[in-house]
Amino acid sequence: MPPSAPLPTVQQSALDAALEAHRDRPGPLLPILHAVQDALGWIPPACVPPLAQALGLSRAEVEGVIGFYPHFHTRPTGLLIQVCRAEACQAQGGRALETHARTRLGLDWHQTRPDGQLTLEPVFCLGNCACGPSVRIGDQILGRITPARFDACVAEALAAEDTP
Ligand code: FES
Repeated sequence: MPPSAPLPTVQQSALDAALEAHRDRPGPLLPILHAVQDALGWIPPACVPPLAQALGLSRAEVEGVIGFYPHFHTRPTGLLIQVCRAEACQAQGGRALETHARTRLGLDWHQTRPDGQLTLEPVFCLGNCACGPSVRIGDQILGRITPARFDACVAEALAAEDTP
């Protein structure tokens, strides 16, 4: 197998830190993938060969785990907006909110705006069922989201991202 091309420094640093923190624990692959995604916002496919080699796994095994969990992103994302599509939220107006979010953002599920600002994803329960419909915008889980509140929260989160 030909040697992999060197990773960009930021990716190599994220991978090194993740390996350092987790490689000696049992079942290290998932925590390492989480750590890389937390550091970079995604898991660059170029990280797979050195990660597989470091853990003594095949590339296919690592790619299989990444592909199995929708949580992992193999492309850069923008501000992540997740709309809950599970039953309790749907019973509280979630379906209308889904339609609003897709129309308002001009995105379908799993799409990122061409300017890279926003990524829209479905999610199946955010653990906030009593306060549906629920969304997560960045790290914040928000409940009782109306279309108007959705717009305001997205605008607020984008403004916060722009603030140095
Ligand atoms: S069903 Fe939406 S948060 Fe649980």
